Amino acid sequence: MFTIIVKENTLEMASAAFEVLKEVLDKKPDAVLGLATGSSPIGLYKKMIEDHKLTGRSYKDVVTFNLDEYVHLDRNHSQSYYTFMKEHLFDFIDIDLKNVHIPNGNADDFDAEVMRYEEELSKFHVDVQVMGIGSNGHIGFNEPGTPFTATTHIEALKESTRNDNARFFASIDDVPTHAVTMGIASIMKAKKIILLASTSYKAKAIAAMIHGPVTEKCPASVLQNHPDVVVIVDKAAASLLADEGH
Ligand code: GLP
Repeated sequence: MFTIIVKENTLEMASAAFEVLKEVLDKKPDAVLGLATGSSPIGLYKKMIEDHKLTGRSYKDVVTFNLDEYVHLDRNHSQSYYTFMKEHLFDFIDIDLKNVHIPNGNADDFDAEVMRYEEELSKFHVDVQVMGIGSNGHIGFNEPGTPFTATTHIEALKESTRNDNARFFASIDDVPTHAVTMGIASIMKAKKIILLASTSYKAKAIAAMIHGPVTEKCPASVLQNHPDVVVIVDKAAASLLADEGH
């Protein structure tokens, strides 16, 4: 079930997302958070840091699982998702890095790594999963065509995804071709999901997720089968929705 919140700008989106997250953290200081990278969650992470500084809210008992990581990027590479999480959140809150889980993009044995990550994840129950959406409807790095039954696995990135993410690399050739990602089945186990999207570039994907058929062609459409998804969008991203943005 979707709860759709349409906001004026990314600042208001971040505040709305933080309100949802705060409700979970207030009740459960040792919550299990599913986290994501990309530009969409950055405002929310800023809010978390601000609140941590202002109220002293502690993250020392919080456990986190990130959705994905690029394959063959060292975790200290400037564009690894490990570096992203350190630079946008972990370095500014009192999280215990022992409780942080991000797939190892530089594993020697990727079969073992995907099994290890899924096994670790299965020991917990994610209370709230934060995520963005790809312009082609991907969630995590589950590209169109990924079976809904998939657990953590290696995904070959679509050219459109590599193009979307090329802005963070010196050239398209530097964008990794593969990623380790939590699967759709793994993501669907989260008790609650917060999905953030802004700009008209995401409007088609948001409309397909909410109004389109539930199909592996649009991975995010699987969320129609989830009991609690809070979709927080700006007007541009909401512009193709039936009741919003007009
Ligand atoms: C990447 C990430 C996704 C993210 C998407 C959208 O592909 N793997 O998890 O949702 O980008 O990114 P942005 O929020 O920057 O638009």
